[in-house]
Amino acid sequence: MGKMNKQLELDKLKNQIIDDRVCPELADSATNLVFGVGDIDAKICFIGEAPGKNEDILGLPFVGASGKFLNQMLETINLSRDQVYITNIVKYRPPNNRDPLTDEKAIFMPFLNRQIEIINPKLIVTLGRHSMNCFFPELTISVVHGKLQKLGDRLFLPLFHPAAALYNGLLKKTLINDFQQIPSILNTI
Ligand code: URA
Repeated sequence: MGKMNKQLELDKLKNQIIDDRVCPELADSATNLVFGVGDIDAKICFIGEAPGKNEDILGLPFVGASGKFLNQMLETINLSRDQVYITNIVKYRPPNNRDPLTDEKAIFMPFLNRQIEIINPKLIVTLGRHSMNCFFPELTISVVHGKLQKLGDRLFLPLFHPAAALYNGLLKKTLINDFQQIPSILNTI
């Protein structure tokens, strides 16, 4: 699909989330729908969990503390935010930053899957166990982080969540280390 058609399809999908009143309770308590940001032709797509306070205010994913950390890790592999695509499973901020509910994640999955289909990235990096478990319910993040996974003909790299790593030195080292595999994976696909 050409870039213009991709943008049209993504706009349609975004409007569908609003028009279908997906997760009305979350929609009503949130300030903005946080759909996604970056290059819609990117080879690599990062998928987090749900927007936090800053993301809700700006309507953009990963713009708070964990976003800053994600940007720094991207820099270490010579990628900027505008060369990748970033989104979340759940597109509205859960109240008080609670974890998204199982139902909320399930309701957003068809929309996320369509978003992935349109962007068609070569590599999907899941950030945190919630994101990983939406695609691989049976996997444990502490076991498979940094190990490439296949689902259909898509490749996934499960990583720890930057927010979790920010407050845990060991996780942080592991995440930074796992992140360094991205260039060589992108080179082979
Ligand atoms: N954490 C997430 O999972 N997503 C965001 O957009 C911000 C923080």
